[in-house]
Amino acid sequence: MWLFTAIAAILLVSTISSNEVSLNKRTLGRLFADYDKDVRPSKGIEPLLVEVDLYVESFANIAEADMEYTLFGYLRHYWTDKRFAGKYQEPILLMGSTLENAWMPDTYISNSRESNLRLKDSEAQSSLLVSPDGLLFYSKGVKVVASCDMRLEDFPMDTQHCELILSSYGHTVKDVIYNWRRDEVVVEKKEIAQFDLKSVQLNSSNASYISGNFSKLVIKFTFKRRMGYYLIQVYLPDSLVVAISWIVFWLEQDDMGGRVGLGITTILTIMFLLGSVNMSLPRVSYPKAIDWFLIGSFLMVFLVLVECIIVYILRPNKGGMKVISDRSTGSTDLPLQNNDANEDVAANGIGRETFQALKKRQVVILEKVLSNSEPVIPQTSGLNSKTPFLSEKDVEEKVMEKYSTHAQSDKNFKAFRECPPCRIAEIIDHSCRFLFPLCFVVFNVLYWRHYLKE
Ligand SMILES: *[C@@H]1O[C@H](CO)[C@@H](O)[C@H](O)[C@H]1NC(C)=O
Ligand SMILES: *[C@@H]1O[C@H](CO)[C@@H](O)[C@H](O)[C@H]1NC(C)=O
Ligand SMILES: *[C@@H]1O[C@H](CO)[C@@H](O)[C@H](O)[C@H]1NC(C)=O
Repeated sequence: MWLFTAIAAILLVSTISSNEVSLNKRTLGRLFADYDKDVRPSKGIEPLLVEVDLYVESFANIAEADMEYTLFGYLRHYWTDKRFAGKYQEPILLMGSTLENAWMPDTYISNSRESNLRLKDSEAQSSLLVSPDGLLFYSKGVKVVASCDMRLEDFPMDTQHCELILSSYGHTVKDVIYNWRRDEVVVEKKEIAQFDLKSVQLNSSNASYISGNFSKLVIKFTFKRRMGYYLIQVYLPDSLVVAISWIVFWLEQDDMGGRVGLGITTILTIMFLLGSVNMSLPRVSYPKAIDWFLIGSFLMVFLVLVECIIVYILRPNKGGMKVISDRSTGSTDLPLQNNDANEDVAANGIGRETFQALKKRQVVILEKVLSNSEPVIPQTSGLNSKTPFLSEKDVEEKVMEKYSTHAQSDKNFKAFRECPPCRIAEIIDHSCRFLFPLCFVVFNVLYWRHYLKE
């Protein structure tokens, strides 16, 4: 009894399903009776108006390097085929390979590099709805990789306009005219990894080719880049590297290794940033906004290195040795006693009184040194090296020895000890501590004002 019921049920089900299939086959047979899919609708009467609508699911991979972008969406066509009118009272939905019995517009995307638009309907997601009055609605899921001519002068503060150009491949305006069904294209996801979709513009025009005039539909997507990524990955590290390079102005002037080492390290870091930024970008022949910033930073760091070398050349050789050589070459007095030197000392924050006091102290020290040393006559003006007395050079060396011990206990003494060339080095270092940050700030202000103005 149970077995009988089961067999009956199976039979019933199979009859129903076979009924459905035969109904479909019959429907299809009736739908496509006297139908030639190679002949376009309204052939010989008027050009066929095909209305197009696009629903964009998402964008992906807006790639500067290849100048292309990827779009996922649904392309819908609406047109009227009078041959279907009045055959059935209710709409019929066709899917899969059955679609291939009907005439289809041969839409193609002229700026696509890859698309599944011409993929067979049996292999793609598509459907065709046939209305009783002959109106057809054909929808197909599309994935398009389209070329997009990008201008990167303002990169990464740039705005890109990417187009999608739809057209019929074989039918001229005499046969098929394309039009937008609606004034807008719906975009589901407006945010892409690096971009925001700003606007979508639709346009239609006629394109003239040697094979005739073709109706053409254009969609223009406007993408604005979000520069947060580059702010974090490039601008911030780069600015910090430039700031680090200023440390050399505080380093010892004799420390050539440390100074140059720091300068070269920062230069290499900026070179690395420049390289890594441009690795993912096409090799365009013009500099991009980010390049200008990195080149500017590079220049700043390079100038720091140049400053190091200048300071190294102008620095005091070794403590006060320079004084001795100055004196022994015949200058009548300590270099600080000329007017320039006085002024420089004053500029270094030591008043004239201090200076005078220091000068007095020098005399005292000199006398002290001379009295301490064995049989020395405190008169060293004659350069007669044959005398048993200390030569002038010896005396000076002794003086300098005393100097250096006293110098440690006296802050201002250092400035006094210095000779013009070494003070030039010091002055350069001191002014660079303010000049370089100032230059960088000015550079930044000008840069961001230029690129951030909308
Ligand atoms: C549409 O295209 C035509 C010609 O290509 C152009 O003159 C017109 O400005 C465009 N319209 C819009 C809204 O972009
Ligand atoms: C394109 O040409 C067709 C036929 O010549 C005309 O009807 C249509 O208005 C034209 N479209 C545009 C946008 O110029
Ligand atoms: C295409 O259109 C232009 C004007 O828009 C016209 O001069 C030309 O003759 C047309 N070409 C064909 C093949 O119809």
